[in-house]
Amino acid sequence: MKKLLQICLLLLVPLGAFASAGIELEDADIDLTDHQSLENGAHLYVQYCLGCHSTKYIRYLNLADDFNIDQQEILKKVAPEGAGIYDKMLTAMNGHDAKKWFGTTPPDLSLIARSRGEDWLVSYLKGFYQDTSKQRGVNNTVFPDVAMPNPLWQLQGVQKAIIKTIDGREVITGLVITEPGTMTAKQFDKAVNDIVAFLVYAGEPAQVQRRSMGKYVLLFILMFGVIAYLLKKEYWKDVH
Ligand code: HEC
Repeated sequence: MKKLLQICLLLLVPLGAFASAGIELEDADIDLTDHQSLENGAHLYVQYCLGCHSTKYIRYLNLADDFNIDQQEILKKVAPEGAGIYDKMLTAMNGHDAKKWFGTTPPDLSLIARSRGEDWLVSYLKGFYQDTSKQRGVNNTVFPDVAMPNPLWQLQGVQKAIIKTIDGREVITGLVITEPGTMTAKQFDKAVNDIVAFLVYAGEPAQVQRRSMGKYVLLFILMFGVIAYLLKKEYWKDVH
């Protein structure tokens, strides 16, 4: 019984962490048939995220094929300078440096949209706020004490949290921009949605890979079945 209670308490801890921010998740507005939005998302991702994160299953060629966009345009508009069309979307940062700088290695983001969900991702990218008690000067509403600096602050501007004390607990009830960035709120919403759309897309190619592998597995079973059948015939030939 004591053990059960302990497990229940453990399960409650993460819930408590989320409850400390009194704001709800944003609604992502993603359209995977909008290739322009996906291309823009990939472009912003390369500019603002690839410095630390990889999406190792995706090559620039995949973007051209899947978004139905000319390879040269992908190289010119999306890929970092000097990258080839067959290159994977890998960060140039090495894990050791990252660990030294951030205390943790920025994760590969290939499957992040599947594990966190698109609403969480939008809320995360829009949820950084100034917090001078933190090493990087920022905190995040959905990822408290996050080790990642706000990568989009120049676009978004400086954001502060409105904190109220409810039942003796400090709760964030909203966020306000105190110094504007280079984008309007509407432009920034679109930029974040496009990046998240790209991350949702990035979760798909792995699935496609798995499916195409499934074909080979079936083919193998079929071929093996034929061989087994022929063997059986050979073995039983003299018995009858
Ligand atoms: C300067 C390096 C850096 C940049 C640039 C950066 N990140 Fe990160 N990111 C990190 C680090 C470090 C973590 C790990 C945070 C932690 O565990 O506290 C992280 C964590 C994350 C997570 C959470 C993963 C999880 O554990 O669920 C997401 C999502 C993410 N980053 C998305 C992005 C996106 C999208 C961009 C671009 C808009 C970006 N990051 C740009 C360093 C970076």
